Amino acid sequence: MPEVRLTRYSHGAGCACKLSPSELKEILRPVRGHPALSHPDLLVGLSVADDAGVYSLGNGRALVQTVDIFTPVVDDPYEWGRVAAANALSDVYAMGGTPITALNYLAWPRDQLPFEISEGVLRGGFDVMKDAECTVVGGHSVDSPEPSFGFAVTGLVDVDRVVTLAGAQAGDQLVLTKPLGIGIITTAIKREICSPEVAKSAVDTMTQLNREAGSALFAAGAHAATDVTGFGLLGHLRELAEASGVGAVVRYDDVPVLSGARELLEQGAWAGGSQRNFDSVSPFVDSSIDESSLRVLADAQTSGGLLVALDSSAVPGYLSDVPGAVKIGEVVAGTGIKVV
Ligand code: CO
Ligand code: CO
Repeated sequence: MPEVRLTRYSHGAGCACKLSPSELKEILRPVRGHPALSHPDLLVGLSVADDAGVYSLGNGRALVQTVDIFTPVVDDPYEWGRVAAANALSDVYAMGGTPITALNYLAWPRDQLPFEISEGVLRGGFDVMKDAECTVVGGHSVDSPEPSFGFAVTGLVDVDRVVTLAGAQAGDQLVLTKPLGIGIITTAIKREICSPEVAKSAVDTMTQLNREAGSALFAAGAHAATDVTGFGLLGHLRELAEASGVGAVVRYDDVPVLSGARELLEQGAWAGGSQRNFDSVSPFVDSSIDESSLRVLADAQTSGGLLVALDSSAVPGYLSDVPGAVKIGEVVAGTGIKVV
């Protein structure tokens, strides 16, 4: 098989290719209120920017549905497939749901990349779906100049166990379940300035399922949760805070960051999407840390961890259920995000 660097075929890096929250709002504004977007059984829809849609089945159960597709974040086809699957499953876990079925989507430059490579991508994605006990029931493929891969995932949840973005209360603690720095490292991989060890730590982080982080939400009585992906920690925290009508404080020194990420950022590994996050969230952030550290908090993640707001009394239980989870700040009355 020829040596192929898949990230060369991508104009950006993974979730950093996402449009910014403000661009997304602009796109949706003209179709807001469209009759197809509401239904009495729709519990969580497009009118709120949550991780997944939730549709009641009428028996106390609901469907949780999401789709996530992106361009190569790593060069290895099999690892890219695994990352894409873990990332797509994450939005179901972030709602407290259990994934049951998935549809895959593959865009492939037929004339430039052999099908031996797409086979690796599919195999990686399917292996992770198998681990997650989520059945791949079908899919769709197109010829496209830029490769893309991902899944639409459907899960189930008890209606009274749905955890949304809204519901965080002043006094809650904020917990993050995976380290940041993924966008910086995947940008460095694309620019060929990343060591194999640092690249491996990012792949290990991205392919780690948020299954435990999601299933522990109910036991902890979590008030709100979301997964940290393309909008970065600050962007997703802002959405959680606004949906809940609260403010937040983040303690930078408590936020876990993958080792090597700070150094790569100094070397210029910084994605355009992360800069858009930074610009978009800056007006809402009151920061007493240096700008470069603040950038780490705006870094676009692919398959990042869950950001959870929960009562102080529930924190020890959640931290012991979820390896790697750490307390990074708290929810306060008011608006905006303070970074100290
Ligand atoms: Co999400
Ligand atoms: Co998503």
